[in-house]
Amino acid sequence: MRILAIESSCDETAAAVIEDGRKIVSSVVATQIEEHKLYGGVVPEIASRRHCESICAVAAEALERAEMKAADVDAIGVTYAPGLIGALLVGVNYAKSLAFGLGKPLIPVHHIRGHIAANYLAYPELKPPYMCLVASGGHSHIVEVLDYTEFRVIGRTIDDAAGECFDKAARAMGFPYPGGKYIDKASKIGELGKYKLPKPHTQNPYDFSFSGLKTAVINLIHNAEQKGDKIDVNALAAAFQKTVCEILTDKFISAARENGYKKIALAGGVAANSGLRASLENAAQENGMEFFVPPLELCGDNAAMIGAQAFYEFQKGHIADESLNAYATMSLDKVRY
Ligand code: KG4
Ligand code: ZN
Repeated sequence: MRILAIESSCDETAAAVIEDGRKIVSSVVATQIEEHKLYGGVVPEIASRRHCESICAVAAEALERAEMKAADVDAIGVTYAPGLIGALLVGVNYAKSLAFGLGKPLIPVHHIRGHIAANYLAYPELKPPYMCLVASGGHSHIVEVLDYTEFRVIGRTIDDAAGECFDKAARAMGFPYPGGKYIDKASKIGELGKYKLPKPHTQNPYDFSFSGLKTAVINLIHNAEQKGDKIDVNALAAAFQKTVCEILTDKFISAARENGYKKIALAGGVAANSGLRASLENAAQENGMEFFVPPLELCGDNAAMIGAQAFYEFQKGHIADESLNAYATMSLDKVRY
């Protein structure tokens, strides 16, 4: 079964053709980052406009690379939640029109379920149940993946998401948006031990809290500025990345151990972080767990992951009609159409 998948939840317009949920036939991602960089973050109105301008060409390119016509695909999958509402609506309306024009099934896909499914494209042998750490620009979750379309979120951030924290700390350090990858790069040459950052406490041990860490970085920089001290940005990046990775790794591994999971996966934009990949790899090895993580190109937003999840949603009969709407917020374990 070949699914044409569409993704437009934030600042990437993407389309892909995926076979049986596991094989990428084609995948096209048009990013708007350069434009949003000018404003230090994603401007929702600009995002929606750029999606409108590029969605037809991006979908056509995905079909062309797959050497297919729209009429040859078996179904259309689309991200319908969560995300920027104006951005989501572009993809949803495009997918709806295509599906009903062609008489093909329309499959609504939750964006975070898609991030998790990126692992199926990388590991043909991976099957639920397993536990997944999702860390993206908008979400930080510890999720039990009970089945392909059955999830239980057992921990989540009570304030900022991990990626959001990376981006805000990076901004304070003077890096461009989105700053996660710049911190990652700087931390590799930064001296460890020069700065110490706090690890926040949460009532539920599997929940995360990142806003205190973000504030600590901002305060450290302001205090140094006021005293005329120079900040060693690379060392601060190294301290920050180490702290975030330890928080994510410690909580996630405890959750997996305490709930009896021997298979663990990582997903979301922050899964591209070299420190996090390494620390989870090590922790998995120490605890006799199997560790799965998508390749870098499947960590950030893309439509291939949406096509992978769409296949499993279709198997469960999760098909939408022309009344499908987009939703800015929705928990991945309580989806509605
Ligand atoms: O999943 P994603 O592409 O979009 C959302 O669904 O939110 O995640 C984007 C986030 C941004 O916060 C970005 O800074 C972060 O992923 N990110 C990274 C790295 N690459 C991307 N964070 C840390 N280290 C990286 N190498
Ligand atoms: Zn995402």
